[in-house]
Amino acid sequence: MPDAENPSRHQDLLLHGDPEPVGLLADPHPEDAAHPGSGPVPLALLPDGAAVGERGQLLVAGVDVADLVAVVGTPVFVYDEEHLRRRCREAVAAWGSGVAYASKAFLCQAMARLAYEEGMMIDVSTEGELHVAVSAGVPPTRLVVHGNNKSEAELSRAVQLGVGRIVVDSFDEIARLERLASAAKARPQVMVRVTPGIEAHTHEYVMTGQDDSKFGFGLASGAAKQAVARLARPGSPVELVGLHAHIGSQIFSVESFAKATAVVAHFMGELMESADAVGSIREICMGGGLGVAYVDGEESLSIAEWAKVVREAASAAGVPGNVALTAEPGRAIVASGALTAYTVGTVKEIPGVRTYVSVDGGMSDNPRPVLYGSGYEAFLARCVRSPRPRKVTVVGKHCESGDVIVRDAQIPEDLAVGDVLVTPVTGAYGHSMASNYNKVPRPPVVFVRDGVARVVVRRETAEDLLALEDPDAPALTAEALSSQERR
Ligand code: LLP
Repeated sequence: MPDAENPSRHQDLLLHGDPEPVGLLADPHPEDAAHPGSGPVPLALLPDGAAVGERGQLLVAGVDVADLVAVVGTPVFVYDEEHLRRRCREAVAAWGSGVAYASKAFLCQAMARLAYEEGMMIDVSTEGELHVAVSAGVPPTRLVVHGNNKSEAELSRAVQLGVGRIVVDSFDEIARLERLASAAKARPQVMVRVTPGIEAHTHEYVMTGQDDSKFGFGLASGAAKQAVARLARPGSPVELVGLHAHIGSQIFSVESFAKATAVVAHFMGELMESADAVGSIREICMGGGLGVAYVDGEESLSIAEWAKVVREAASAAGVPGNVALTAEPGRAIVASGALTAYTVGTVKEIPGVRTYVSVDGGMSDNPRPVLYGSGYEAFLARCVRSPRPRKVTVVGKHCESGDVIVRDAQIPEDLAVGDVLVTPVTGAYGHSMASNYNKVPRPPVVFVRDGVARVVVRRETAEDLLALEDPDAPALTAEALSSQERR
């Protein structure tokens, strides 16, 4: 399939200087024209445990999705637990026990526990993520703490808990961390996040390795070298153990990973020649970012292939064998492990223009099409193998026209109101970026395994929407206001 026909690939086409979200451009296809994606949904996009039942219906891990929906309602995120476990095991096999699951992709206690049980560390980038992971029983030593603006409270909690790694991101943070570590008489292990000056071919919003970035210490500017010198100086209250780089997300190009690895390896080589305490650097983490297939025609690397590319680049660039190479994948662990089931509420045909199929969710459970122009497939839970000759636009229930879930979706001819419409590959950055826009309660998360379904995050209720409200709140007293410490 040519890239221009493939909305997910649009991320790759959006190179620097081309900030327009391509997914929102005008429809290049006349409505209902035959389209290369008009066959059944590719089963490779579904969770490993997906199967087609006797009546042609969708099963995931032995659970009939229509039956599940009858009990828990729609929209709902359905995760194949064994699929998630398998990807975690694959990551540990490829990268070793230092590999971390980037929890921003999808986090709840069940997921944190699952990734920990399967041997991964957990990358948390806020105190909220840290709280969920710790409350799920993940030992702090198995946490990696990230963030370009870690607050005093976040750093303090990380130091007090004794987390496994803190990835430092700025000079201000170093000052804050050194002060907290000295006060707590702890010696946290830290990594320096470097920005290698690599512009990965992905959407500019998720590109992070270029010099012009809010993340990390630039190599080109000399900031990274300065940070290492400071952290590794004799008497430093923290222990420098590694270098870290993350060049972006949803990256398909092996060259980008190889290039970034070579740049970081070269930097390490420079440090080995000059700085005195660089011997303490025993780990290089190349971040996350492995792209996954979202739509028909896309192919991605496996986690093992990705690790091989990075290992080869590191060894070609002379990284000593005793330096552990690690990573922190998020999307590659969870994206294709889940799907979202919606119910079709209205079908509006505008002759000669477009057909809008409205479902009971939208940009509040999947903001990715709106934010990045991302593409998805759609199919019906009752007929997985049906051809999908009809082209429609699947939209949500929110009060704006941009609320598109799948632009130019191919769907079966007989789609009707009441059908359960499914979008696959929604396991990453869907639930985690969900909102309550228009006061729509966020959908539940269901884990399925061996024919058993468990609601591991329940649906929000109308009461939940009011939980933080206090319309009759008493006034803050002058004393309360004046007793606050001023900084
Ligand atoms: N490590 C760091 C430091 C990161 O910032 C990220 C993602 C990851 C690892 C995991 O990257 P992954 O393997 O999932 O690509 N909301 C966007 C993606 C934002 C990624 C943010 N950082 C999306 O929906 O595409």
